[in-house]
Amino acid sequence: MRNRYLLIASALVVALAAMAFGAGWLFGSAGRAPAPAPAGPGLPIVAADDVGPTGMQLDALRRGVPIGGEAVPPPLARVENTDLKRERAYPMQPPTIPHTIDSYQVDKNSNRCLLCHARANAATFQAPPVSVTHYMDRDDQFLAAVSPRRYFCNQCHVVQTDARPLVANTFEDIDRLLNPPARN
Ligand code: HEC
Ligand code: HEC
Repeated sequence: MRNRYLLIASALVVALAAMAFGAGWLFGSAGRAPAPAPAGPGLPIVAADDVGPTGMQLDALRRGVPIGGEAVPPPLARVENTDLKRERAYPMQPPTIPHTIDSYQVDKNSNRCLLCHARANAATFQAPPVSVTHYMDRDDQFLAAVSPRRYFCNQCHVVQTDARPLVANTFEDIDRLLNPPARN
């Protein structure tokens, strides 16, 4: 007699478990997020124009593409090789490099940049020589050669590219702060 109740009880448990599994399989898959849309030209690239002056487009990385989708990466920025210097935003800003630096080697044994930018070679290559700060150590002593802390040029100087800013920027330089354009 006791065995029969046990049998019925275990049969019920097995049936319940099977039903729960089936329900989970049915409704669980229905609730799942839709399969990610295939990457392709159809998906939006939010143009940098949407980066308003007040920084409306904050999602610079995903550019508004839904989390399930895959963004089409924007084309790589092109390095400008125009010899056109950009304005420095403040006096001690390292100037950006107005030429390409592809395969210019800078390591322990050689420094390609100094081939043109060292004081001795600058006239030959018509390059601006590195300024006096590049010969100063951190105690403001002038050294005979470029200071080790200014040796790896790319630490501070970067090439100029046609990349658009990812986030809005309302920086105003000191001249504009002192002489703000007339507001009405
Ligand atoms: C073949 C010679 C040459 C080499 C090598 C070279 N440059 Fe130049 N660089 C120039 C010349 C010439 C200019 C002046 C602007 C122009 O004509 O492009 C210049 C301009 C610059 C400027 C702008 C200076 C300013 O006052 O705005 C920076 C910064 C600079 N170079 C950094 C570098 C760095 C960093 C490297 C190494 C990665 C390097 N250059 C390698 C020739 C060279
Ligand atoms: C620690 C940062 C730093 C490093 C490293 C550095 N620079 Fe500079 N560089 C600056 C700053 C800041 C300025 C602008 C103010 C000044 O002249 O010190 C500058 C200015 C310059 C200028 C313009 C000089 C002028 O008179 O207008 C040239 C050219 C230059 N750097 C080339 C180089 C080269 C080539 C190297 C590598 C040998 C180098 N820099 C390494 C920070 C750096």
